Amino acid sequence: MGNKNPYLTVEDYSLPTRAYQLTFVNTSQTITVDPTRIPYGDDGLPGSILDIALAHGIPIDHACGGVGACSTCHVYVLEGQRSCNPASDDEEDQLDNAPKLILGKSRLSCQCIPDGSSDLVVEVPSWNRNLIREGH
Ligand code: FES
Repeated sequence: MGNKNPYLTVEDYSLPTRAYQLTFVNTSQTITVDPTRIPYGDDGLPGSILDIALAHGIPIDHACGGVGACSTCHVYVLEGQRSCNPASDDEEDQLDNAPKLILGKSRLSCQCIPDGSSDLVVEVPSWNRNLIREGH
């Protein structure tokens, strides 16, 4: 489960061992991430923000299927960045193609994996917002 691009390197990362909260500011949805359910689906690295979002009805665009080969899954991590795996050089290269990059906050949601050591607050950029279901 979970998609991985064999041509991209992903730095070592730790999956969460305890539940944590992931909030999407666009929809005011707060998800309690259950580590025992990871991976939630098939898109993005297991436990990634994309993996969790899609399983909870938040359809972040992910043109390459979550293998780190585009930048359509770009999100801003507003709080909790330190609990996430560091972006690899390959992720940084893809982010260079994303509009409205914000240093220290922009991540590919398919490659960004929180370790559960703190809660997370995420914003989907405005060009992607039309894909978010409002009214939850
Ligand atoms: Fe393509 Fe994340 S979906 S890089």
